[in-house]
Amino acid sequence: MDIEEKRVKISRLLIAKEHRGKGFGEKMMIALLKFIQNNYPDLKVYLTVFTFNKPAITLYKKLGFIDEKIDVDFMRYQGEIWDRLEMVLK
Ligand SMILES: CC(C)(COP(=O)(O)OP(=O)(O)OC[C@H]1O[C@@H](n2cnc3c(N)ncnc32)[C@H](O)[C@@H]1OP(=O)(O)O)[C@@H](O)C(=O)NCCC(=O)NCCS
Repeated sequence: MDIEEKRVKISRLLIAKEHRGKGFGEKMMIALLKFIQNNYPDLKVYLTVFTFNKPAITLYKKLGFIDEKIDVDFMRYQGEIWDRLEMVLK
């Protein structure tokens, strides 16, 4: 996480491929959100995710994140155009 002036940004959540779908990502996020709640209760929590990343978006929605804005054409990679979604914790 990165502490900004009025917000906390969560980034680089990654579970090894062979251990995905076992609940580890959710447990890590819950632990981190509890830490933020206890230590930075007044800061808004947000993250960004590419719009094609359905596993991550589903996880974030399950944890209470909602869509804030979309940066269209945020990045171009190997001929593809990637949009980026910003989500905030309700
Ligand atoms: C996104 C990621 C961290 C999720 O971690 P994980 O340990 O596999 O996820 P969990 O097993 O804890 O799953 C928790 C919830 O996430 C969602 N989820 C996880 N994998 C999913 C999938 N393949 N499709 C849809 N939803 C999924 C579900 O809501 C799931 O809850 P449920 O089991 O009750 O349905 C993991 O897929 C990953 O490392 N992806 C590659 C890196 C990445 O994209 N990171 C996010 C960058 S923003």
